[in-house]
Amino acid sequence: MTSSRILLLVLVATASAFTYNEAIAKENAALSFASYCPNAAIHNWSVGYVSKSYPDLTNIEVFENLVSGTKGYIAYNKKESAIVVVFRGSSNIQNWIENISFGKTEYNKACKCKVHTGFHDAFVSLKPKLDSLFPGYATKYPYAAIHVTGHSLGGAMATLYALELAEAGRTVGLFTYGSPRVGDPDFYDWFTKYTKITHFRVVNQNDTVPHLPLYAMGFYHQDREIWYHDGTHTVCAATRGEDKTCSYTVKSTSNADHSTYIGLSSSVDC
Ligand SMILES: *[C@@H]1O[C@H](CO)[C@@H](O)[C@H](O)[C@H]1NC(C)=O
Ligand SMILES: *[C@@H]1O[C@H](CO)[C@@H](O)[C@H](O)[C@H]1NC(C)=O
Ligand SMILES: *[C@@H]1O[C@H](CO)[C@@H](O)[C@H](O)[C@H]1NC(C)=O
Repeated sequence: MTSSRILLLVLVATASAFTYNEAIAKENAALSFASYCPNAAIHNWSVGYVSKSYPDLTNIEVFENLVSGTKGYIAYNKKESAIVVVFRGSSNIQNWIENISFGKTEYNKACKCKVHTGFHDAFVSLKPKLDSLFPGYATKYPYAAIHVTGHSLGGAMATLYALELAEAGRTVGLFTYGSPRVGDPDFYDWFTKYTKITHFRVVNQNDTVPHLPLYAMGFYHQDREIWYHDGTHTVCAATRGEDKTCSYTVKSTSNADHSTYIGLSSSVDC
């Protein structure tokens, strides 16, 4: 076999490994938005349009750090046969966008890479609770897929948690909505080595948050962007430094575009 033939086969295999399923992405957007609901409503799965459309969640446990104001929940999604770990975004998105900082923290010694300090701190604030909850689900549902998801700051935390699971050898479907940029170019390289993560990084039109923290300050996105715009969506290229033909092209950003994803509102009637 010629080397160009082998290359072609590799390209075909790589392309087919990434399939964007909009129905599953929409479901995970809904589950992400439900995390903004009160704890009792989440625990009870009476979360307005979300539980009406997606009633199949069981064994729901909310995890929260009251000091850090961070929160999420873990559950088993019968319909998808998946353990789903959901991270909530900031409770005051407007303030959060205005006050976003640019500080970086070392991720670990081996990667020589850095991540955004605020996102890292938020994730670390939930880690002890996750570490005590997740193994019970993994034992109870050994054949389940693992879906990790979140909107906004929740997307950044989901990215960090998906990476931890992949570092521990697990296969993860990561679904983020309006996620900010999480780390530096070295973090991009480290994350990208973990091919057990399939990341659908959904961006809605002119949403402000995916433009933060600034690219010019040395923050890169993880692959792979799915950009909703002009009534359609584009599966963008997997590229170090992001596909410059997708949401990167937007010059005039919109905070309003942060609160709607795949036809769903982040304000859940709960
Ligand atoms: C829990 O669910 C029941 C019905 O299943 C509902 O009547 C009740 O209001 C719910 N509680 C909360 C806190 O959402
Ligand atoms: C964000 O900044 C504004 C103006 O400086 C301030 O009033 C507000 O308290 C800050 N919010 C947070 C969450 O730090
Ligand atoms: C969205 O971005 C495009 C391209 O920069 C611009 O033409 C359009 O006016 C923007 N729309 C809003 C609502 O900001």
